Amino acid sequence: MMFNLSEVQELIRRRRTIRPARFSPRKVQRDQIEKMLEAANWAPTHGRTEPWRFKVYAGEPLKQLMQTWAEIYKAITPSEKFLQEKYEDILARRQQCSAAILVWLKRQESEAIPEMEEWAACACAIQNISLVCTAYGMGCFWSTGPVCYSQQLHQHLGLGPKDRVVGLLYLGYPQGEWPEGKRGIWMNKTEWYGF
Ligand SMILES: Cc1cc2nc3c(=O)[nH]c(=O)nc-3n(C[C@H](O)[C@H](O)[C@H](O)COP(=O)(O)O)c2cc1C
Repeated sequence: MMFNLSEVQELIRRRRTIRPARFSPRKVQRDQIEKMLEAANWAPTHGRTEPWRFKVYAGEPLKQLMQTWAEIYKAITPSEKFLQEKYEDILARRQQCSAAILVWLKRQESEAIPEMEEWAACACAIQNISLVCTAYGMGCFWSTGPVCYSQQLHQHLGLGPKDRVVGLLYLGYPQGEWPEGKRGIWMNKTEWYGF
């Protein structure tokens, strides 16, 4: 055994999505984010394309991003589906969250690797970020949805036509107890052959 497996299993099991509304005021530090991104960069990558890219936000730029996010939500949501509560929930993140990482996918010019696989590589990078968060006692909330995939956000970020936004990761320490996760039994999702 190269590593302490029970500790690795525990780290993976205890990784948690924690919403910004549940973050404590304790700030996330730049050196911690650097460790997260270093781990992210070790994600597997088909054809060594390393498609993951990051935009890291704190302070005023994070507040501005949340403002833009809320305005895009308002602009793209049909009036009958628009929820004032959700709009305000996005704006509230300006106070709740001290740091966030926007993960985007840099599409290779040749498109030799299927986009799905490039997206998978970015998802692995996000998992690595989340695990480093857990090690620090932080939660990581991977947010997606219509704003994330909108043309408006794409343009705001200045991405190329083939690039994709993979998600916005809100980072923060939880208030109170570390939340418990919930999963179905892995054995029920597995078929064995030749064992
Ligand atoms: C690709 C992907 C996109 C996600 N997008 C959202 C999202 O937009 N909103 C949200 O509340 N949670 C989102 N999540 C987080 C899930 O809600 C979360 O992983 C799930 O509730 C399980 O909780 P856990 O991560 O603490 O185990 C996303 C997760 C993944 C893998």
